[in-house]
Amino acid sequence: MKQIGRSPIFIERGEGPYLWDVDGNAYVDWVSSWGPLILGHAEPLVVEAVRQAAGRGTSYGAPTAGEVELATEVVDRFAGVEMLRMTSSGTEATMSALRLARAATGRSKIIKFAGAYHGHVDGLLAEAGSGLATAGVPASPGVTEAQASDTVIVPWNDGEAVAEAIARVQPAAVIAEPVPANMGVVPAAPGFLEHVRDATADAGALLVLDEVISGFRVARGGAQELLGVEADLTVMGKVLGGGLPAAAYGGSRELMERVAPAGDVYQAGTLSGNPLAVAAGLATLRKLDGAAYLRLAAITDTLANGLRAAAADRPVQVQSLPGLLTVFFSADPVLDFADANASNTAAYGRFCRAMLDRGVYPPASQFEAWFPSLAHDDDALARTIDAAEQAFREAV
Ligand SMILES: Cc1ncc(COP(=O)(O)O)c(C=O)c1O
Repeated sequence: MKQIGRSPIFIERGEGPYLWDVDGNAYVDWVSSWGPLILGHAEPLVVEAVRQAAGRGTSYGAPTAGEVELATEVVDRFAGVEMLRMTSSGTEATMSALRLARAATGRSKIIKFAGAYHGHVDGLLAEAGSGLATAGVPASPGVTEAQASDTVIVPWNDGEAVAEAIARVQPAAVIAEPVPANMGVVPAAPGFLEHVRDATADAGALLVLDEVISGFRVARGGAQELLGVEADLTVMGKVLGGGLPAAAYGGSRELMERVAPAGDVYQAGTLSGNPLAVAAGLATLRKLDGAAYLRLAAITDTLANGLRAAAADRPVQVQSLPGLLTVFFSADPVLDFADANASNTAAYGRFCRAMLDRGVYPPASQFEAWFPSLAHDDDALARTIDAAEQAFREAV
């Protein structure tokens, strides 16, 4: 809340698309716990699944049938994932995927995109989006020179820069959010991801697609299905755990069998594949069929079009894909991190405060996505668009 100049809001409870703070104020929630709550708050099927799982014990440190069912669901959705390993957070999953990429290629450098966020992995904090962009932190103290020097940063949507960097550093991997959402939502330019795919393959490097946000959200099979590009390693999280801590990374059987105990690349986690998180994830994914994705896309479109109409002719860009959206205070479309950084964050802060005053809870940062859920009904949408008409007037 610092970026928008107000004190934090403490939450008492959530239900469907709504949050209530400790003072009894209600809000239409567009943050959805930063992505996991694609069914909204306290979805009865998810709550019941967790309740039942907890009654059978909270953790065993041993495999469960639920874990296998969840893995089967993931393999069914992601064409390039034959095998996966669960972790408790997206940070662990990206860190482990890159360890595997380095082991598989025998190389050390990683190329990442400016404005992308892949969790708080030491080597990936330079020019990161999300909270670092919000706080204006270009890199974090505490990261050693050696860790930082293994990461090479290129601008998003710049095909030439990617090709040049790959040729120069011969990386183990290029890691990308296929739908960047941590500098705000900045879709790939047509052909860009395909170019990155081809350039990595030609150079013997792996393409790691971080679908922690986009996976199970922008389409049934994530951004890879939506955009028709297949990764060597896919990182997942957020929706996968249905609001409890779960994440994963996966790829071909050949690659994943390098991970211990089958292979020699070590990675483990006491609570990985936790039965409560698996139960919440399974209950969530089972509701996410083709019809659900069509409905989420329609909800996102209604929100995006309503916000565009409310913004009228002000210098505002509403950038969206199914299930994700950002309102940029910028006269021109935002194509990369430099554009995102040039947007009017003071106006965003005014807009956000005005929305909160009217019972709508958008992300408190210009550099984060709005996360529509299937719980956002007509009433929640109408309240949001009404509030936005006033809020844009106050902001600009
Ligand atoms: C694209 C992406 N990757 C990785 C992460 C890290 O996930 P976690 O917060 O579960 O560690 C995030 C978190 O927001 C993310 O947005």
